Amino acid sequence: MTIKELEKLLSEMSLEEKVGQMVQRSASVMAEGTIVTGPEGTVDSEEMSVGLIGSVLGKRGAGPLHKIQKEFVEKHPHHIPLLMMYDVINGLETIFPIPLAQGCTFSSQLVEEAANIAMKETVAAGVNVTFSPMLDLVRDARWGRVVESTGEDPWLNSQMAKAMVRGYQSKGKLAACFKHFAAYGAPEGGRDYDNVELSERTLREDYLPAYRAAVEEGCAMAMTSFNTWNRLPSTGNKWLLRKVLRDEMGFDGVLISDFAAIDEMIRWGIVEDSREAAKLAIKAGVDIDMHSNGYMNHLVRLVREGEVDESLVDEAVMRILKLKNSLGLFEQAYAGFEEDETALLVCDAHRKKACEVATASFVLLKNEGLLPLNKTEETIAFIGPYVDNINIYGTWSFPEKPKNTITVKQAVMKKSQEVLFAKGAYVLDEGQNTRMQDTEERPVSEELLLRAAVEAARKADKVVLCLGEHRNQSGEGGSRASIGLPEGQLKLLEKVSEVNANIISVIFSGRPLELNKVENLSKSILMVWMPGTEGGNAIANVLFGDVVPQGKLAMTLPRSVGQVPIYYGQFNTGRPNPTGIKIGFVHGYIDESTRPLYPFGHGLSYTTFSYSPVVLSQKEMNKNGTIVAKVVVANDGDYAGTETVQLYLRDVKGSVIRPVKMLRGIEKIKLKPGERQDVSFVITEEMLRFYNADMEYVSEPGLFHVFIGTSSDTDNMAEFLLVSETE
Ligand code: GLC
Repeated sequence: MTIKELEKLLSEMSLEEKVGQMVQRSASVMAEGTIVTGPEGTVDSEEMSVGLIGSVLGKRGAGPLHKIQKEFVEKHPHHIPLLMMYDVINGLETIFPIPLAQGCTFSSQLVEEAANIAMKETVAAGVNVTFSPMLDLVRDARWGRVVESTGEDPWLNSQMAKAMVRGYQSKGKLAACFKHFAAYGAPEGGRDYDNVELSERTLREDYLPAYRAAVEEGCAMAMTSFNTWNRLPSTGNKWLLRKVLRDEMGFDGVLISDFAAIDEMIRWGIVEDSREAAKLAIKAGVDIDMHSNGYMNHLVRLVREGEVDESLVDEAVMRILKLKNSLGLFEQAYAGFEEDETALLVCDAHRKKACEVATASFVLLKNEGLLPLNKTEETIAFIGPYVDNINIYGTWSFPEKPKNTITVKQAVMKKSQEVLFAKGAYVLDEGQNTRMQDTEERPVSEELLLRAAVEAARKADKVVLCLGEHRNQSGEGGSRASIGLPEGQLKLLEKVSEVNANIISVIFSGRPLELNKVENLSKSILMVWMPGTEGGNAIANVLFGDVVPQGKLAMTLPRSVGQVPIYYGQFNTGRPNPTGIKIGFVHGYIDESTRPLYPFGHGLSYTTFSYSPVVLSQKEMNKNGTIVAKVVVANDGDYAGTETVQLYLRDVKGSVIRPVKMLRGIEKIKLKPGERQDVSFVITEEMLRFYNADMEYVSEPGLFHVFIGTSSDTDNMAEFLLVSETE
């Protein structure tokens, strides 16, 4: 339809029809088999017929959705189709690594390719909108939803945001919805749904860039967040939604609330009742009410009684109609691929890419000579609750065929015969809680499991210990006050280490964990996060050296939960403590280092890379100039490998304090043994801008440090002066 035709349609719609477009219900009101992702509660609709709503969420499946859509459109007074929305966070049926792992690839290309495959499966399953990418910056590993973020850095998250939006929206048949606007990733105490205490400057410097990147990439939708910022719930924050998101960022897509977030403003104590909540939300600029009573039961009357101007409804409905139109729903209410849905799901091509992304997401934290494994000349014992476990996909994955997942054991058996297997321990301790109150069958006593494992370890040359938190110990509502491995697994590690010192720990997790004991008792550590459908194959490929690891930490790994929030771009303070160990009146703790266990950007290979000193094309530049920063990277080891060369800048003095490092560029290079390559980055004035003391987004003349290295810990540095134009 043309814009004129859409405007004509809007003019012919009744107020009830228009408000209906702004109402989203769980698909359970229309069909069985809906994924419920929030407190559905008793949602009665005195005012609104379900036959007039604009969208549903939580249902997939071309057949059932086509049936729902067909019946719905035929009955609707103006035959306006529904939008079918679903949470496809890291794949639909072919499950990719969790977004936190995808962030560790530092590869926009791989992340875009993963999103593209997710799009194909999602469209084939009849879905029009995915509630992804999740772009909340995270620096607190206690928060359960770090699993869904691409990490702690504004620049990296912005690259990932653009890549995912491109991947999802490339064919124009799936709309992406970035979330959760804004700063949901910084709740106090890491407690989900809690208050967020950030200055406006920190919000703008660190937490908004990735959302802005999604807007610039043309992301079709945005979702408000559950949290408060500046003591206002995002869903009712007019300054955030209209001034920042719409006016400053130029977002003109559809804005949806998070699940029941409009009514939840009652419990925040910011509105009296659902009617007031609806009024606050529509004035703040929320176009669609996801599954609360607000718009459904009160918006028509609020307009009729003159408390809400109908123009606010019209502008929201026009955005919704334009989105439906852009997806071709008026012409074909069910936009899907001709191919049979099942043919697209988990096909070999999708598996191959999932395996590639997974191997690139693994972070080799430590390797004192045990990896890669030898397939024939050594006996290896694979021990732990994650050796033969299909639950290695993220908490926001709902595969209908989880058995498609390849376990470590299945994959290893294809690689080598010289292997022993033992479970050794359960994932969870007896009675330990998960966000979904999961329980584990415990048919065998822990003592028996442990004894069999120790026996296997005794016989082996090396032990691969597959340990980790439960997939539902992270995710929404999955915050943890402690972030260690379950006690039963730590006991397994200890007992095995008493009979075999050659331990390689493979860690499955939805968040950075506290890994001190793993660090002390393992000679090699591979962080595999939640690797998805092809996880087992990817892990076996890396462990046996068929693929060389290349992942880099997208989120700092703390020594202890007491250090959290901890991230690389912190401030020098007035009493810096470079060693991290507390001596006298300096920054830090008396009982812990300020240094992380492993820093952002860290990740080893099976080969070793060396860097020449940073060379700058000139020692100073003005605002119209650029500087080229160059290093030569060499592969000094015995394996071909991929290195992620990282560029960090530091503004040594500003009108407000500035972080000690800021990631401003990455370059992934492949080098064979003995090869070397020039890597250069162009530094522009735009890279130097920040919100100064007057909240102007500008650069300031002065001294800058340029770091280029293999992680945020690099001290490979050169400096230049930014001079004012007049100089
Ligand atoms: C949930 C989540 C959000 C998700 C939505 C729909 O509560 O916060 O990320 O997209 O509801 O499932």
